[in-house]
Amino acid sequence: MNDFHFYTPTDYIFGKGAEMQVGALASKQGARGVMIVYGGGSAVRSGLLGRVIQSLDEAGIAHCQMGGVQPNPVDKKVYEGIAICRQAKADMLLAVGGGSVIDTAKAIAVGVPYEGDFWDFYIDKVKAEKALKVGVVLTIPAAGSEGSGNSVITKVETCQKLGLRAAPGVLNPVFSILNPELTFTLPPFQTASGIADMMVHIMERYFTNTPSVEVSDRLCEGVLMAIINEAYKVKQNPRDYEARANIMWCGTIAHNGTCGVGREEDWASHFMEHEVSALYDVTHGAGLSVIVPAWMAFVARRNPGKVAQFARRVFNVPQAEDQVAVAMEGVERLREFFHDMGLPVNFRELGVPRPDIDRLVEGLHHNKGELVGFYVRLSAKDTREIYESAL
Ligand code: NZQ
Ligand code: ZN
Repeated sequence: MNDFHFYTPTDYIFGKGAEMQVGALASKQGARGVMIVYGGGSAVRSGLLGRVIQSLDEAGIAHCQMGGVQPNPVDKKVYEGIAICRQAKADMLLAVGGGSVIDTAKAIAVGVPYEGDFWDFYIDKVKAEKALKVGVVLTIPAAGSEGSGNSVITKVETCQKLGLRAAPGVLNPVFSILNPELTFTLPPFQTASGIADMMVHIMERYFTNTPSVEVSDRLCEGVLMAIINEAYKVKQNPRDYEARANIMWCGTIAHNGTCGVGREEDWASHFMEHEVSALYDVTHGAGLSVIVPAWMAFVARRNPGKVAQFARRVFNVPQAEDQVAVAMEGVERLREFFHDMGLPVNFRELGVPRPDIDRLVEGLHHNKGELVGFYVRLSAKDTREIYESAL
């Protein structure tokens, strides 16, 4: 196991009606003015935004707001938000939504106290050391941004979708409110995409060459198995509170660091997918259900050990002498699971029958360097082969 620094400063409040505590929680954080950020309207239609405002009013906290954040959030909304936040002199961001809303709120939080262009943080020109506080009311378990110190934004002009990984504690939400009932209204495709995303957050950590990581291996495998079980229940009954609750908490622990301590992480699949959603505006989790099996099949032939272990322990593939065959059976079962959830497993099913692979490969290595990933180091020739195998 590698040495590590693990710090998760987020206060998690989980359960029915938890959003009514938002005013008290913001007050406890010393907030005087809160800027609410939300998406394309689901939080308005469900009445959630109204309840959040009521709670802030009851706590005597001033608030301003910005709606209209779209999935695969873009820089334009961040600039707009920075201006609103500065004008209202808000000292805390409150994201009411999913990863896109939370990541926009984080970008505003880091952009407001900075004199330069917030994009500097995303291209690693400047290190993010100071930010306004961010609180979250989560409405979709998926990106895990409610427990991470990261934010992913697309710069439209250059078509770059890049992540900011701030130092521990800088951008982690100070509190995250998780009420599983808020996820009852999710369309099945969003639920499934979120499930794929959280699974891949675990897998990016799981596929490692770091030896002696038995505890985190078992944690990863256990959470993956739980997600798969609960996913079928949610598919059958979207209003199954217990299944929704389990999925919601899985989404958080998949990405708040718990499953990745002490091990080298991979992240090639995420970087490959970010190129796809930057160019074609597809749902991130659905992009992953296409890329990840293709990536796994590629690495299984070069470094089968962990993929075979995944196949045996997560999907009960019988042990056999041929580790590549065991690994490939695991890949097949993962594809079947994604299909069962109604997710695409190739570009055609994703609705992008003829992706511009030259552009994907070029963008990927321009943004992420000559080699990507760690479980198997991938050159441009390798990533091209993976994209092509997903057609
Ligand atoms: O905009 P509204 O109307 O709210 O609709 C949203 C949106 O259309 C809808 N939705 C959310 N909660 C709902 C709901 N509809 C009905 N009922 C509800 N309760 O779902 C759609 C997707 O929302 P979005 O916020 O985009 O989803 P998600 O949480 O999957 O976030 C995806 C973004 O996060 C990034 C992705 O790349 C993508 O841009 N990621 C962020 C990470 C991080 N910050 O740590 C890590 C991830 O790997 C990921 O890259
Ligand atoms: Zn993701």
